[in-house]
Amino acid sequence: MYLPEKILTNADLEKTLDTSDEWIQTRTGIQERRIAQKDEASSTLGANAAKNALNDAGLTPEDLDLIIVCTSTPDVLYPSTACFVQKIIGASRAAAYDISAVCSGFVFGLSIAEQFVKSGRYEHVMVIGAEVNSRIMDWTDRKTCVLFGDGAGAAILKRVESSEPSGILSTHIHSDGNHSDFLIVPGGIGREPVNNDAVDNKMYCLKMAGQSTFKMAVKRMSEVSVECLEYNGLTTEDVDVVVPHQANRRIIETVSQKLNVPLDKFFINIHKYGNTSAASIPIALHEARESGKIQQGNLSLLTVLGAGLTWGAAAIRW
Ligand code: ACO
Repeated sequence: MYLPEKILTNADLEKTLDTSDEWIQTRTGIQERRIAQKDEASSTLGANAAKNALNDAGLTPEDLDLIIVCTSTPDVLYPSTACFVQKIIGASRAAAYDISAVCSGFVFGLSIAEQFVKSGRYEHVMVIGAEVNSRIMDWTDRKTCVLFGDGAGAAILKRVESSEPSGILSTHIHSDGNHSDFLIVPGGIGREPVNNDAVDNKMYCLKMAGQSTFKMAVKRMSEVSVECLEYNGLTTEDVDVVVPHQANRRIIETVSQKLNVPLDKFFINIHKYGNTSAASIPIALHEARESGKIQQGNLSLLTVLGAGLTWGAAAIRW
């Protein structure tokens, strides 16, 4: 993983917004989040996470066949952020492209990587979640800006022959465009050119229907978790660690109740980083491994909901 150094605490937000540390912590579990510096972007955060992943895996950039960057805050409209990452890390052999599934991006990216690796087409596929959410916040809107943060996480999938089911057991992804207005950055140059009215109306900032999203997050993250486990002939009893998208601690607590999986089996780091969208799950995966919460042989369940709406789950045997 890689995180910008700058920390923005709830106390800092109290100085500019009609909000309080107490409200933010009680309603979301968030204490602080990271904010990218001016010279940082999704590509630079992602490239730093990529370098860390390569070191961790003992691989070189030349080993990578494919780089998938999952981001909803790309550096520019095009070329892809993945091409910038490829250039920064020097992965000259790799194909590189972005996918857009917002907070679900990493699980959607894993599902693509899984197919390339399982089919034997590629040996090493890197999936990166990288976001600079701070750039699309309306910093006067207390309903959204307190929730999000910046950061990046990366994983490398490697093809390994095994007699036992191991690695990514399966991924399950879904979308429902009927709820595309729940979370949206409405200003985009495809519908209408960049214009001053749109800037004045903050159309290039995130708009969110918080409560509707909350309810769908609980419903879909629970449903897809069960779907994923049943597909593999597993039950919630078999799960060692759940690594959920870190959007709101109360969503995680409610999913824990719905699935009847104790909360201490859920890895939670939202208090430190807020919602880092596509970076949230790979950052949490990294910290869960580093902290010893994920051990060799463990079964992990990833589960997420994001704008689109999109949602998904993955089962991983380490
Ligand atoms: N500080 C103080 N008060 C606030 C703040 C704040 N930061 N934000 C809202 N309030 C106020 C509201 O104005 C409202 O006041 P009112 O009753 O006088 O109108 C009151 O608090 C309650 O507001 P609600 O919106 O009802 O609060 P809720 O308990 O629903 O929490 C939240 C809001 C945290 C946004 C919650 O709905 C949530 O987490 N939603 C899900 C977000 C999510 O899951 N996103 C996932 C995907 S993200 C992606 O894909 C990019």
